[in-house]
Amino acid sequence: MPPTQPTIGVFDSGFGGLTVLRALLQLLPGANYIYLGDTARLPYGSKSHETIARYAVSSAKFLREQGAELLVVACNTATALALKDIQHALPIPVIGVVEPGAHAAHSASNHDQARDKVVVIPSEPQSNSSTNHVLVLATAATVQSHAYTRALNTLGLDAHEKACPLLVPLVEEGWINHPVTDEVLKIYLTEALNEAPKAQTLLLGCTHYPLLEPAIRRALTALNHPLTIIDSAEATAQTVLTHLGLPAHSSKLKAPGSQCTFYATDSIEKFERLGSAFLGQSLTGVRHVDLGG
Ligand code: DGL
Repeated sequence: MPPTQPTIGVFDSGFGGLTVLRALLQLLPGANYIYLGDTARLPYGSKSHETIARYAVSSAKFLREQGAELLVVACNTATALALKDIQHALPIPVIGVVEPGAHAAHSASNHDQARDKVVVIPSEPQSNSSTNHVLVLATAATVQSHAYTRALNTLGLDAHEKACPLLVPLVEEGWINHPVTDEVLKIYLTEALNEAPKAQTLLLGCTHYPLLEPAIRRALTALNHPLTIIDSAEATAQTVLTHLGLPAHSSKLKAPGSQCTFYATDSIEKFERLGSAFLGQSLTGVRHVDLGG
């Protein structure tokens, strides 16, 4: 891989992975990025393992064909169910979001003073006797895979996973600050906290949920149960930095003229409109690609 300006493929089932790209752009502004949103086949989160693996591998192969030298699977569902399939299918490093998110939760649990958001570089599990309980919100497929529970248990943390299938469609609809979304969040969080009353940390295990963070905070305040919220996007970007041998929190990749190329498998207009909210800046020039069914 060229040390100064690697080409990084970023893959998600849709727009949500743009939150990971946003974090990457902040830490690695000098890299080139090729982003694929598999919007025609979204949502992945309600589909079977076999289907998710097939979609994810074909998306990953497409990015490799476009020149990706390292692949970031920004989709939690694709990471949870198909990371190994993708790693077997591609001759390049493949980084998912589950382990970085779990490591970030582990580091947060080691902070005496819980901060609003804690982002850390993955490290070796520490041999402490932490009893931190982590509540993971994710899609149904991610929860059924128990990938987060395995990753968190390995680090000595207890986990409780809660499927929140209504949240992705609400975000896709742009209902980020909407009374219906507030109500749905209150119901999910009430159920989750009844099931996991000791939870101290909330891990957002889906690409779409960081956009709901203000609404999640409002709901937690209303329920009088504040939690440290972990968003794996920044932790994943830190993992990429570490993989490239760059120091944490600061990028030495300052090469000018980094390029971002965007592909979507469904409507370009919708991708540009919704994607801008996820990326945090206006998004144009999206190209269409047909990856089949
Ligand atoms: N990208 C998916 C995830 O992070 C959410 C959307 C979907 O279900 O495809 O789990």
